[in-house]
Amino acid sequence: MTKPDLSHAYALQTPEDCLKLYADWADSYDADFARNRGYVLPAQVAAAFMAAGGGAPVLDVGAGTGLLGVALAGLGLSGAIDGIDLSPAMLDRAREKGCYRTLIAADVTRPLDLPAVYRGIVSSGTFTHGHVGPEGVPPLLDIALPGARFALSVNAGVWAARGFPAALDALADRIAGLTLSEVPIYDAAPDPADPHATDHALILQFTRR
Ligand SMILES: C[S@@+](CC[C@H](N)C(=O)[O-])C[C@H]1O[C@@H](n2cnc3c(N)ncnc32)[C@H](O)[C@@H]1O
Repeated sequence: MTKPDLSHAYALQTPEDCLKLYADWADSYDADFARNRGYVLPAQVAAAFMAAGGGAPVLDVGAGTGLLGVALAGLGLSGAIDGIDLSPAMLDRAREKGCYRTLIAADVTRPLDLPAVYRGIVSSGTFTHGHVGPEGVPPLLDIALPGARFALSVNAGVWAARGFPAALDALADRIAGLTLSEVPIYDAAPDPADPHATDHALILQFTRR
């Protein structure tokens, strides 16, 4: 098949497409995607979560190859980091990073068969084109402790288009202290041929009531 890239990822339509794409991409994701593009979003989410006093146990949503877990560990997060992702192939790469306690293969848009034990819920690059929309938030609230801190990146291009503002308004009785900060997703010198080189994300932070 053609080498997987961001344009394929953004065009995903079904969980089956997603599993296939990431099975093909898992081995080269860190080098071909993250390193070449200067993918700084996991570091941005980790920094926001830690600056806000986020603590463990923390769940990394759409953990992929584990770049956000590595960033949290690098900032000195003390306690367990778990990861959840639809793609077992990506989780195999995350396991090699050595910073996750447990890695769970599951679809976060569906009710999760997990205990409500998390003091932190983080995510980078998963709430984006072709991936997870605001329907992914309620199942995560169900497994978070009261007072748990959320730091989730949402690609700026899907924020309004996927209906995040209205979905968050509808969750007003379950979340508190909502803030948004806009950050660049990549820091490599922009390639004029790459339509996504200067894309931004919103880091959405709130606590579970
Ligand atoms: C662009 S990658 C981001 C991975 C990692 N967080 C990072 O920043 O490098 C998006 C990840 O979301 C996962 N994903 C997509 N849809 C999902 C769903 N419904 N439930 C769980 N994970 C999902 C994919 O398998 C993929 O690993």
